[in-house]
Amino acid sequence: MKIEWNEDLAVGVEYIDEQHKELFRRFNRLLEACSKGSGTKEIGSLLFFLDEYVRIHFNDEEKLQVANSFPEYPAHREQHRIFINKLDDFKNEMQTGGATLSLTIATNRMLIDWLLNHIAKMDKKIGEFISQNT
Ligand SMILES: [Fe+2]
Repeated sequence: MKIEWNEDLAVGVEYIDEQHKELFRRFNRLLEACSKGSGTKEIGSLLFFLDEYVRIHFNDEEKLQVANSFPEYPAHREQHRIFINKLDDFKNEMQTGGATLSLTIATNRMLIDWLLNHIAKMDKKIGEFISQNT
């Protein structure tokens, strides 16, 4: 199984769309590892990657929203904060309990929810708002 980025998910701001594509690629790498039975080997490097990457990505997205006076910015920023908190929990779990199957499944779920709900719905609205108001 693979979930692909497609044009329907485009925000229309190139650097943001490129960052989203990278998140899809990384998620697919995890799925592929899981299908080969090596998901727990992949999880550490994925969490490490996300920890750095999403902070930059969220910051870029939030700056874009502020620059365009996007009205849903506070609610959007809150979703980013919740994601970072969850990621911190997972990282702590990794450090204390190691790369377990349950951690791998929980990360998998968090990411699929993020790609299908946050990126496909909330992020998409930023693009729609910008195109209607500029
Ligand atoms: Fe976002």
